[in-house]
Amino acid sequence: MLLYRMLSLFAVAGFALAANLAVTGSVCTITPGTNVTADDTPSILSAFQQCSSDASIVISEGTYNINQVMETTGLKNVTIDLQGTLLWSTDISYWRANGLPLNYLNMTSAWVLGGEDITFDGHGYGTLNGNGQVWYDFSNGVGNLAGRPISLIIANTTNSVFTGIQFVQSQFWTMAITQSDSLLLTDIYVNSTSNDGTSTENTDGVDTFFSNNITFRRWSVTNGDDSISTKANSTNILIQDCEFFNGNGFAAGSIGQYNDTFEFIENVTMERVVAYNTLWAGYIKSWTGTVEGYPPNGGGGGIGYAKNITFRDITVHNLTGGITEITQCVSYNGDTSGCDTSTFQVSNYTIEDIRGTIYGGSLANLYCSVAAPCPGISLDFTNVGTNGTRNLTCSNVVGADFECTGPAGYSPY
Ligand SMILES: *[C@@H]1O[C@H](CO)[C@@H](O)[C@H](O)[C@H]1NC(C)=O
Ligand SMILES: *[C@@H]1O[C@H](CO)[C@@H](O)[C@H](O)[C@H]1NC(C)=O
Ligand SMILES: *[C@@H]1O[C@H](CO)[C@@H](O)[C@H](O)[C@H]1NC(C)=O
Ligand SMILES: *[C@@H]1O[C@H](CO)[C@@H](O)[C@H](O)[C@H]1NC(C)=O
Ligand SMILES: *[C@@H]1O[C@H](CO)[C@@H](O)[C@H](O)[C@H]1NC(C)=O
Ligand SMILES: *[C@@H]1O[C@H](CO)[C@@H](O)[C@H](O)[C@H]1NC(C)=O
Ligand SMILES: *[C@@H]1O[C@H](CO)[C@@H](O)[C@H](O)[C@H]1NC(C)=O
Ligand SMILES: *[C@@H]1O[C@H](CO)[C@@H](O)[C@H](O)[C@H]1NC(C)=O
Ligand SMILES: *[C@@H]1O[C@H](CO)[C@@H](O)[C@H](O)[C@H]1NC(C)=O
Ligand SMILES: *[C@@H]1O[C@H](CO)[C@@H](O)[C@H](O)[C@H]1NC(C)=O
Ligand SMILES: *[C@@H]1O[C@H](CO)[C@@H](O)[C@H](O)[C@H]1NC(C)=O
Ligand SMILES: *[C@@H]1O[C@H](CO)[C@@H](O)[C@H](O)[C@H]1NC(C)=O
Repeated sequence: MLLYRMLSLFAVAGFALAANLAVTGSVCTITPGTNVTADDTPSILSAFQQCSSDASIVISEGTYNINQVMETTGLKNVTIDLQGTLLWSTDISYWRANGLPLNYLNMTSAWVLGGEDITFDGHGYGTLNGNGQVWYDFSNGVGNLAGRPISLIIANTTNSVFTGIQFVQSQFWTMAITQSDSLLLTDIYVNSTSNDGTSTENTDGVDTFFSNNITFRRWSVTNGDDSISTKANSTNILIQDCEFFNGNGFAAGSIGQYNDTFEFIENVTMERVVAYNTLWAGYIKSWTGTVEGYPPNGGGGGIGYAKNITFRDITVHNLTGGITEITQCVSYNGDTSGCDTSTFQVSNYTIEDIRGTIYGGSLANLYCSVAAPCPGISLDFTNVGTNGTRNLTCSNVVGADFECTGPAGYSPY
């Protein structure tokens, strides 16, 4: 027997309708409505409510308008089968006033999703379109604009798989993963590219917080900021078979932004990655030990460590900064004097089997603070071509297996 229910929250006789929801047993199926401008969020939220455990949600081919925030948490054994496109509205004042909190760095999101045993499958074409151009134009170079929403937060989630999803024109960071364990995110396409030359700063591919055992496999990330970033309390992170275009490359950090607060990053491996025109292949960045302002655009004074970060089998093309950087100088207040103050401890950072070319800068610039010199740094740039000098500048790097060509330069981020 087919149990068919039409959701018609905005339906009035004679008017066109938003997306339909049909519930058949444990399958909730969304199909496009007849009104292409209506808000489809209520139908989608209703599907997540009615199919929240031992169920599947099918979002069929078509485009759905997402005009409201979505909080779909506490799912249990749910398959989300995304065949269509979710298109976020461009109502900047709505989103800035209604974002859902990350509970960290004052960041907010348009969609918080979570639960256990979730499979979110986009089949290589299911798409989240953040309509980010309006945000790139509106923020106009202002970093971490309050209320500019992360496309998707995966929160409080365990044993789940995200596969074949495309994220285009994300409003801000594409994804944040927080308070989660044992996730696989594979075959993910991210492309946040401004079509009018405005900055795509803050379009990070993904940032992890308070999470363990996260694998990122076969990502293609085109953006204007960190390609993949592990921040506070990220452990056992594996990045494999990815391609990064134009952004900053992998980032461990920034970290240490909250005064006297312990945060750490431990056990990160990145392998078989190709980077094109990125700033670095990857880098490590901590805030200074001096408190100036408060998060998200100020802070410092955090404690903790980043250790056991390894990049191997990496190919680079025309990198604009160099292969890598360590900076402990992060401070958004233009104060260049704090680089030696951080007690945040960076150690055991290895780059092996890396090849290709850099376009500018130096091979590496490693600024460890006087207050926490870095041991266990191992870098081999034998197979990296430069367009001239082979500078590898370092300060307070101890027991390295390479020779530094001079002291490190100041680097604010
Ligand atoms: C379609 O939805 C929009 C937004 O809710 C509404 O303003 C418009 O009247 C609807 N059109 C029809 C034909 O129902
Ligand atoms: C998960 O949900 C599916 C229905 O979508 C059901 O067939 C299966 O038995 C559930 N698995 C468990 C372990 O309960
Ligand atoms: C994760 O769960 C905790 C505990 O219920 C809650 O306080 C927190 O807000 C959740 N995280 C997010 C980002 O929603
Ligand atoms: C935090 O974000 C809210 C809006 O989401 C904003 O009103 C507030 O000014 C922000 N606070 C800081 C310190 O940036
Ligand atoms: C880590 O996560 C993967 C899923 O990506 C899972 O298969 C594995 O069992 C987890 N490992 C541990 C030690 O929990
Ligand atoms: C990203 O999008 C831009 C603009 O749409 C396009 O030119 C570029 O080819 C895309 N990059 C990738 C890797 O698909
Ligand atoms: C930072 O934390 C230290 C140690 O608890 C404290 O002495 C100092 O006052 C704090 N600084 C600020 C600006 O809050
Ligand atoms: C990070 O993890 C450590 C060790 O579990 C814990 O002591 C610390 O409070 C965590 N940091 C934050 C900001 O929650
Ligand atoms: C470093 O992390 C990797 C995983 O990223 C792990 O296999 C290795 O055992 C760790 N090394 C140490 C010394 O903990
Ligand atoms: C890092 O990896 C090592 C080796 O597998 C393991 O012993 C250690 O517990 C890991 N660290 C964390 C924080 O999980
Ligand atoms: C290399 O990078 C430079 C500077 O960003 C850029 O002008 C040039 O077009 C790039 N070359 C290629 C082949 O991408
Ligand atoms: C750090 O490297 C040292 C040798 O340089 C090694 O003895 C130690 O086990 C490493 N620790 C981690 C956590 O990788």
